[in-house]
Amino acid sequence: MAALASSLHLVWRSLGMLRAVRGVLALLLVIGVIASALPYVTVAAFGPMVQVISEAGNAGNLSGVWALSGPLVARQDGLLHSLAGPVPFAVLLAVWAASLVLTQLMYFVNAWIGARVERVLLVEIRQRVHDHLQSLSLDFFLGSRSGELMHRVITESAGVQRLLTDCLLPPLIDVVVLVVVISYLLALSWQMTVAALILTPLALLTLRFAGRHVQAVMRRVTNAERAMATEVEQTISGIAEIQMFNAQSVRSKRFHAASEEAARGSAASVVWMQATVNGSQIFVALSTVVVLLVGVGLSGHFGLTFAGLLVFAGVVPVMFSAAQRVLGAYTTYQSLAPNVTSTYELLDAEPSVRDAEHAVVLGEVHGNLVFEDVTFGYVPGENVLEGLSFTVAEGETIGLVGGIGSGKSTVFNLMLRFRDPQHGRILLDGNDISTVTIESLRDQVSKLAQFPFFTKDTIRENIRLARPEATDADVDEACTAAHIHSVITAKMHDGYDTVVDVQVPSGGQKRLIALARCLLRRPEVLLLDEPTENLDADQRARMIGVIRGYANDRTCVVISHDLDFIAAVADRILVLEDGHITQSGDHRTLMAQDGLYQRLHDVQNGN
Ligand SMILES: Nc1ncnc2c1ncn2[C@@H]1O[C@H](COP(=O)(O)OP(=O)(O)O)[C@@H](O)[C@H]1O
Ligand SMILES: [Mg+2]
Repeated sequence: MAALASSLHLVWRSLGMLRAVRGVLALLLVIGVIASALPYVTVAAFGPMVQVISEAGNAGNLSGVWALSGPLVARQDGLLHSLAGPVPFAVLLAVWAASLVLTQLMYFVNAWIGARVERVLLVEIRQRVHDHLQSLSLDFFLGSRSGELMHRVITESAGVQRLLTDCLLPPLIDVVVLVVVISYLLALSWQMTVAALILTPLALLTLRFAGRHVQAVMRRVTNAERAMATEVEQTISGIAEIQMFNAQSVRSKRFHAASEEAARGSAASVVWMQATVNGSQIFVALSTVVVLLVGVGLSGHFGLTFAGLLVFAGVVPVMFSAAQRVLGAYTTYQSLAPNVTSTYELLDAEPSVRDAEHAVVLGEVHGNLVFEDVTFGYVPGENVLEGLSFTVAEGETIGLVGGIGSGKSTVFNLMLRFRDPQHGRILLDGNDISTVTIESLRDQVSKLAQFPFFTKDTIRENIRLARPEATDADVDEACTAAHIHSVITAKMHDGYDTVVDVQVPSGGQKRLIALARCLLRRPEVLLLDEPTENLDADQRARMIGVIRGYANDRTCVVISHDLDFIAAVADRILVLEDGHITQSGDHRTLMAQDGLYQRLHDVQNGN
């Protein structure tokens, strides 16, 4: 019952997607009905046509067939009397031939429109999933493997489209047509109809049995493909370490296991699908035999003509393939359901950090920053920050120092609202940042990350990521402010059009380019997380230049373990220890105190 309810829910929810194709949907349904009805017309015309030919043959004059007439419907009495004809042989021949040709034409038109519907639906659903993914908070991504997420966006989301185009529309059409056809057959002879359908329940049970196996292996395949995507992603992202430790064989084994599992599943599904095809053909043959035996033996009692017998014999395979399609759609649905469910789960995932209900836009700020008794932990019961309070005045440059894992980067995460504190407030120019829109907050606060992200695109486009509408002149200006303009124009082989790759530009150059990207937004609050890491002396001097230049009259918070750098740029230094600030002051003051700062400094200078 619960399974049925959840299936109905999946279908109902997917139906909403059809809005994107509502224009062509009605057309697709009409064409679909015509295309699946035409084979029955072929069969219905074939019986009477052959009957007329055999009459001519029996009379010893086959070419006399043109003078003969036959029934349009293979029964002259009863319900179909008014439609029965007779009509000339030429008409029967024309109907038969035309329906054959039209069937193929309609199949083509159907496939054509169907492909268009599939395309629109697929693009729509993938986009929705992709865009939703982008809206989720960072914690979601830390908890998931990116290979698996990629598989979900690219492959599994297609399940929703296939649910609609493969599992819902075709069987709907087949069922409608089958109802009409069975009514027609009943009108021809209910006894023969029973004979034709008597094996159907058995056939459906057999097909269902095979279908369950298809479905089970398809589930295995999906899981194995996800695992495989994860393995490949991890190999690629960890390639340097893997090669350094000669760990290729370990990775190979893991990939092989996932790949083997996926291939085994696919192979098994092929076998089971083949079994359904062959099984149903056997039932077609057996049912046709039943029809012929019953027809030959008893047609006199049923008022069945020779033409009628041919119609019944001919209709069995057509009906069976329709029934098989309906059942196949069900099997396909079962194999898609996990993908569809996982897609909706993804779409239902909510960002953990979001705008407050009546969030206001934070206008231009001056950069007065206040942490007020802030407590935060990533996991319940393990607080990283504990009653953290400090104030930064507009225009100040603050050095934030502390041991590894003391929560320095966490402070930045809270300021950018990648996370929200469990307790306390953070104020920017007097505005509690939890009450302003996240977008407007991030317009004012920019962070140079410890490991900046670059796409495989030109330096210019990578910088423009921060402000897509920025002109080339804006980009130049930002790079000048970041002291990297001259390096780009003089040292990069294509200047601003140099494509960023793993090795080019160098790590230090990349960091300054990333800094230019921050400055392109003209943030009033600039956050720098370990900005001097792997910089050479020249780049380090440029970094100091940026802080003294751009950040001189703006608020700037610098995290660094490089205390000489901190001493050179910071107006004031905060020492983070045990989740809160234990020392505050300039370099000279802190060195005079017997505290963590002095100890860190001594360790760094080898005393
Ligand atoms: N996403 C996370 N989930 C759980 N714990 C985290 C997460 N990020 C950081 N931590 C933990 O929080 C503590 C502070 O981390 P962080 O702020 O990065 O320290 P650092 O001062 O070195 O920048 C560390 O113990 C770290 O392991
Ligand atoms: Mg850190």
